[in-house]
Amino acid sequence: MHVEATARQRIALTVNGEAYEREVDVRMLLADFLRWELGLTGTHIGCEQGVCGSCTVLIDGEAIRSCLTLAVQADGRSVTTVEGIGPAPGQLGTIQESFREHHALQCGFCTPGFVVSVHAFLNQTPNPTKDEIREALSGNLCRCTGYRNIVQAVASAAEKMQQSTASNGKDGSR
Ligand code: FES
Ligand code: FES
Repeated sequence: MHVEATARQRIALTVNGEAYEREVDVRMLLADFLRWELGLTGTHIGCEQGVCGSCTVLIDGEAIRSCLTLAVQADGRSVTTVEGIGPAPGQLGTIQESFREHHALQCGFCTPGFVVSVHAFLNQTPNPTKDEIREALSGNLCRCTGYRNIVQAVASAAEKMQQSTASNGKDGSR
């Protein structure tokens, strides 16, 4: 099928629990849609070729690279960005608190991608070993920290979530 260079398409999706409808250029990247159409600038764009992980968001709970995904591919789906990871807007979740406590960031450019990736990882693997954490984070690059504190932050977040689950009898806030 021939697609016009200027083809546009109407999409309807949920982002961080809010419903949106927009007409977009069919070539628009999801990362650009989130940043420029919705103002959600927590999603960072680094390499733009799927290598650094700083643009990571969740689609229906699965971590994806928003620099390799078209906005039209998110039509009808539920997207979560770093702004939607905490318990409420402006509040830090357990993962974000752990990053802060363990000094797991310096410039912070990579941090939103790490937080989103860790959120998806701990949903799948709530009690990870340090090796599993390192493996899970291998798709996110950080130029500043040397990763040691990031791994500690993730281990600490996992522990807190386990304790919260045990005391509440259900999954706590990420
Ligand atoms: S900006 Fe998407 S992986 Fe680097
Ligand atoms: S804190 Fe600077 S790139 Fe990770």
